[in-house]
Amino acid sequence: MSREELLAWIPAGHPDETLARQISFDRLPAHIAIIMDGNGRWAAQRHLPRVEGHRAGIDAVRDTVETAARLGIEVLTLYAFSMENWKRPAAEVSTLMMLLKRYLRSELNTLLRNDIRFSVIGRMDDLSRDIQDELHAAIDRTASDSGMLFNIALNYGGRAEIVDAARRAIESGVRPHDLDEQRFADFLYTAGQPDPDLLIRTSGEMRVSNFLLWQIAYAEIYVTETLWPDFRRWHLLEAVQAYQKRERRYGGISPSPAVASAK
Ligand code: IPE
Ligand code: IPE
Ligand code: MG
Repeated sequence: MSREELLAWIPAGHPDETLARQISFDRLPAHIAIIMDGNGRWAAQRHLPRVEGHRAGIDAVRDTVETAARLGIEVLTLYAFSMENWKRPAAEVSTLMMLLKRYLRSELNTLLRNDIRFSVIGRMDDLSRDIQDELHAAIDRTASDSGMLFNIALNYGGRAEIVDAARRAIESGVRPHDLDEQRFADFLYTAGQPDPDLLIRTSGEMRVSNFLLWQIAYAEIYVTETLWPDFRRWHLLEAVQAYQKRERRYGGISPSPAVASAK
């Protein structure tokens, strides 16, 4: 999409307008991945049960998905439930699943309207039947959308993904000496997708928590103190702007001699 597309959606004079005008649309991250964290703390600050934080987090998901699509981001991946999150109390897990189901039902039309293709990464087969059905329905309904790809990481673990990829590689019969990084990446859940350029984590935690371990090799990491339920368009634009000020080197040297000598 474009600056115009984004600005058309921001009320004139709104503070987000200034930020939107500062974004360089020719240098957008192709893939943004987000570790949505801090729902529990958001609820605790309000003396509410943790699940109220998850409930409030849905508004942040909605806003982020639409902002990313309007910005023209190619792939957005949201970490919604890790394989380790099964350790949480059963009531919290079932509320998270119920909220996911409700989100899919209520947002399907928004996804379709914005030409967003929905996809799941993670061990989907281990989720309950009704959740799988709901996910498959959203995947099928949006399959021909050609705009942003929206991956939701569910029952996802980065190490498990690498193990699954290794199993698939073996099953495919690929010969060991033919296997290189590119071939291996084709067995990951994210096969064919660009690696995340920008990894955002909310709520200030400085860790990766088993997310996209292979794919984030050279991602720019942006951690904000903002708790996930408070995350909105403005925060995403701010993260993209910060990303655009970074210098990516991939192990090389600075492309600009002026910058290199200033260091
Ligand atoms: C993120 O918020 C949501 C999920 C992991 C599903 P948390 O529930 O981890 O919130 P905190 O980290 O306890 O504040
Ligand atoms: C990471 O958050 C998982 C998701 C956002 C789904 P956690 O809250 O589970 O991570 P840790 O336990 O703080 O590392
Ligand atoms: Mg957390």
